[in-house]
Amino acid sequence: MSIIFNSEKQIFLLNTPSSTYVIKIHSGKYLLHGGWFKRISHWTDNCSLPLVDYVMSPVPADLHDIEDFSLDSQQQEFPVSGRGDFRTGAIEIQTADGTCTLDLRYDSHKIFKGKPNIEGLPSTYVENDEQADTLEINLYDELCGILVTLSYTVWNSYDAICRHVIVKNTGSGKGKYEGKKIIIKKVMSCSMDFSTSRYKMMTLMGAATRERHPVIRDVVQGIQSVESRRTMSSHQQNPFMALLSYDSTETTGEVFGFSLVYSGNFTALAEADQFHITRAQIGINPYNFSWTLEKGEKFFSPEVVMVYSSNGLNAMSQTYHAIYNNNLVRGTWKNKERPILINNWEATYFNFTPQKIFEIADVAKKVGVEMFVLDDGWFGNRNDDRSSLGDWYVNKTKLPEGLLAISEGIKKRGMKFGLWVEPEMISPDSDLYRAHPDWCLHIDGRDKTLGRHQLVLDLSRDDVVDYLTETLSNVFSSADISYVKWDFNRSPTEVGSATLSPERQMETSHRYVLGLYKLLENLVTRFPQILFESCSSGGGRFDPAMFYYMPQCWTSDNTDALSRLFIQDGTSVVYPPSFMTAHVSAVPNHQVGRITSLSMRGHVAMRGILGYELDLTKMTEEEIAEIAEQVSFYKKIRRTMQFGKTYRLESTWSKTSSAEYTKFCAWQSVSEDEKQIVLTVAWLYPESNVPPEIIRLQSLDENAFYQAAYSTGESKKFSGAELMYAGIPIKFLASYGGSVLVEFQKIN
Ligand code: GLA
Repeated sequence: MSIIFNSEKQIFLLNTPSSTYVIKIHSGKYLLHGGWFKRISHWTDNCSLPLVDYVMSPVPADLHDIEDFSLDSQQQEFPVSGRGDFRTGAIEIQTADGTCTLDLRYDSHKIFKGKPNIEGLPSTYVENDEQADTLEINLYDELCGILVTLSYTVWNSYDAICRHVIVKNTGSGKGKYEGKKIIIKKVMSCSMDFSTSRYKMMTLMGAATRERHPVIRDVVQGIQSVESRRTMSSHQQNPFMALLSYDSTETTGEVFGFSLVYSGNFTALAEADQFHITRAQIGINPYNFSWTLEKGEKFFSPEVVMVYSSNGLNAMSQTYHAIYNNNLVRGTWKNKERPILINNWEATYFNFTPQKIFEIADVAKKVGVEMFVLDDGWFGNRNDDRSSLGDWYVNKTKLPEGLLAISEGIKKRGMKFGLWVEPEMISPDSDLYRAHPDWCLHIDGRDKTLGRHQLVLDLSRDDVVDYLTETLSNVFSSADISYVKWDFNRSPTEVGSATLSPERQMETSHRYVLGLYKLLENLVTRFPQILFESCSSGGGRFDPAMFYYMPQCWTSDNTDALSRLFIQDGTSVVYPPSFMTAHVSAVPNHQVGRITSLSMRGHVAMRGILGYELDLTKMTEEEIAEIAEQVSFYKKIRRTMQFGKTYRLESTWSKTSSAEYTKFCAWQSVSEDEKQIVLTVAWLYPESNVPPEIIRLQSLDENAFYQAAYSTGESKKFSGAELMYAGIPIKFLASYGGSVLVEFQKIN
């Protein structure tokens, strides 16, 4: 068992392979946090913070006479506000008397093998009960009859602990509280108090076409936080936060990751207090949220996946990659190599004909591409982005013979066929809107704010979810569809629902997300063979929850190779390469106007799931030959690039290079059997007359030899020790086109 309860000391020890997480019950009532450390086999309990009573620290009435103890100066496990802890509470509930002060006391606990599902929400799962153990701790507010269950799943093969919280209104409150409803105003998925504030906080921020750029800042007294208020996880901030010790790098130092499995409004914060305790929290954003629980009802928080590393950031990333690939993604495409596709969006935008599609497909087939994806514009009267979302029947003007004819034509050429949809949206100019004007999110009497000329369907409604399930099932069965790109191109506004009472309007945003999960579950169950790719103007919903349904995501609408180095590097902090689709597009690049070499575009896209998004009929013969080579080479390294272990040898945000050296980034992918290694080096600021970069590879067999084949044509042999300790010199030459890729094969 990885969870131990020491009843004498009233301590829980949660042991992952290399870490120990400590929870304590104080005086039989208060649940305190004892710390999360590198694994400790013998916990004497003498390292906990002393129970000192600082100046101005209030002491609970029941402990007043026996000891100096204040909730304000303790490391707590799930703090409430209003009873002496003036920091941010983890939970806020308005009770029958209108106040929000709770008194949650330890009530009971349960330890069992395996991991429970979370009702209505996606979460990581075990394949068998031996993979993890779970601890559930019940906290109870006697006066109001509120039961809060803290759930901890401890993994046996990952340094990860998954937490979520269940709130139940038992109805057994005392006197005037008995049987009364309660209103949840805030419930975090976890709260954790670290004994010092000597940390840096890392988050992934950005914007559309500039997603997930890491930001690292000092934790200082006060609150530092990130959030989304967009009813989507957002381009601007990812539902992730890490605390890093001061000495941490990619390979050294302690790192604590918090990744929320949720696609709606979230908040993540680090609050350093007057005594330098740092409180970390992540969960549903209290903004525009409340939830009424009638007697007997329960509320489930989303899951947070917490990862510990004592070997720096890269090890934390590798743990996230493994747990998300193996215990989050489900279905046919789990751990399965993904097809190389061509998408017509940047090639044609809305302007295509069957003939054009087949012309592109002919060349795509010739170069070895495996699937053709028809993007936006195939339905309703859709010729630009001003109409037709919701009218999921074929655009007869553009495709007179229908979808089936297109899919058959693609199949005849030996490729699979994929299709774009944006089902959560509705254009005011659509038959669907004319028939159901109240089906969108809106507030009665207020103007509806448009985004990309469109509104958002109200997925908090069961009738809308049922309608979409049937409509999309018809589309997905109307032709041989192997892949679906599921888009979401605006943030909801006027987040209200026609069917909810005024008291429950603030539930709309979370109900929307629950409705989305229901819809996705319906469709992935009905169409298990379809490869779903999520998208939200690129990577606006690149959160763990979406990967429970759709195993890959369009990383960004920015396809420029240089911009992608930053975006993909930042994304890899939490998400594995198998989640990131990456396409070679035309130059000058449509988003930033930059010209990069075809080989660099290929190398960068190969870091994730390689695809193409350009008009192949306009390429020269040499370019077509180069693309054919890229495709066939990628097929040889595909498994390693998508599912291998990733090492960020030099990340885009590391500041280790001196200014006089050319700035570059380098990453290494290692196959599951450790026999194939791929090293990619790409320059961020190419400069002339610079010395070679010395790249040291990691985690090789030091006694083995490796045969290296360079994209520059060279071929050399190295020992593992040479590659790790001496390093391989890689020189920048303009003729290399901005990047060098080296494939190593272990030869003994
Ligand atoms: C979004 C997507 C693009 C493309 C367009 C189509 O912007 O991110 O890849 O599908 O929509 O309208």
